[in-house]
Amino acid sequence: MDKIVVVGGKQLVGEVVVSGAKNAALPILASSLLSQGHHLFRNVPRLADVGTMCKLLGTMGARAERGTGRLGDAVAIDVGHVTPEAPYELVKTMRASVLVLGPLVARHGRARVSLPGGCAIGARPIDQHLKGLEKLGATIVLEHGYVEARARQLKGASFTFDVVTVTGTENLMMAACLAKGRTVLENAAREPEVEELARVLNKMGARISGGGTDVITIEGVDELKPIEHAILPDRIEAGTFLVAAALTAGDVLVKRLVPEHLEAVIGKLREAGATITAEEGGLRCKGPNVLRAVDVKTLPHPGFPTDMQAQLMVLMCVAKGSSVITETVFENRFMHVLELSRMGADIRVDGHTAVIKGKRSLSGAPVMATDLRASASLVLAGLRARGKTEIHRVYHLDRGYERLEKKLRGLGADIHRVKA
Ligand code: UD1
Repeated sequence: MDKIVVVGGKQLVGEVVVSGAKNAALPILASSLLSQGHHLFRNVPRLADVGTMCKLLGTMGARAERGTGRLGDAVAIDVGHVTPEAPYELVKTMRASVLVLGPLVARHGRARVSLPGGCAIGARPIDQHLKGLEKLGATIVLEHGYVEARARQLKGASFTFDVVTVTGTENLMMAACLAKGRTVLENAAREPEVEELARVLNKMGARISGGGTDVITIEGVDELKPIEHAILPDRIEAGTFLVAAALTAGDVLVKRLVPEHLEAVIGKLREAGATITAEEGGLRCKGPNVLRAVDVKTLPHPGFPTDMQAQLMVLMCVAKGSSVITETVFENRFMHVLELSRMGADIRVDGHTAVIKGKRSLSGAPVMATDLRASASLVLAGLRARGKTEIHRVYHLDRGYERLEKKLRGLGADIHRVKA
């Protein structure tokens, strides 16, 4: 398995360009199942998860291919005859595979999708996806570890989510596009990626209003048509670079991002002492000599994103004073704490809360990545630590960050990958 080696202590300086958003690309690729024909999506990040989604579409008979040369950031999908089954082997490597469920039932009348099971950051059930589909008239049977959903024709309905779920909202929004009549989804997720999916579906001919708010209304249509679309920038990757600049007392222009998608993160970075200014094409972040401790609570959008919690924690590990980080979205998302402690961080976890006492410095150590954002936090910690940090199990990182080490090296970091 590859590892990443970082020698800390370098100030990051320069410009970096953000890739397309993983969490927008995955549902958008899945949405191609809603119509027959040739789709072309641009600004699709080269990530393991995107590869998994393409493979999944491929096993169902929809050919998904990455372009070459000038079209290297594009994925073309050709949807013809589809076998509506998502096997365990793929779903177990990526929970977001469940995003094919809604489109499959809506357009093909049937779906057999493996249940995702638990994952490192908690139980992560899909009960809301299933409850919502039942409300739209699907029959759901759970058997042999698979969800079997059937519906000759979905029917519009009102559904209120018990918990705010991003992929749950996306699944039901996609399903409702081809349902008969009007669907109203309440307590829907407001993430920019949900709004982007609504935009894409509308381009395909759907009639969705309220994407990006907590009430989404979908008027069902008979059919959708394939489209060409460029995917929006990844706000979590952008946020990770802003943290990297703040952490190393650096000066970095993070380009091709949407500042409005990052308001909660920018707010916390400013509180911590970073100077963030809007510039043509991006945001410039200058790190202070001494970071200040700030308290953070993760929440669904527009609150502070859980996908930035681990990265912000690293900042707090070297800030002046004590901070409290409360994780409210996932039940078990502090696995990075033990690894950060191995690097000298002073963190106490009590249930959903972590209390961090800032230290002057961290010390490089061999550490193990446990999940996607945790692995990003270890890379960040390595940038700030004295000496060498070796991050193992970086396949987690490759699921969600495109060429992270190359981009950081471009900013002056001493970082490289050691191939297995
Ligand atoms: C998505 C993102 C992930 C992000 C998360 C929260 C994608 C591909 N992934 O994951 O990066 O960390 O949103 O912003 O977009 N829940 C239920 N029942 C359900 C569904 C969810 O109880 O049916 C719970 C989950 O266990 C969790 C919370 O709701 O505690 C939020 O999960 P959810 O928004 O569904 O996360 P994902 O969509 O899987």
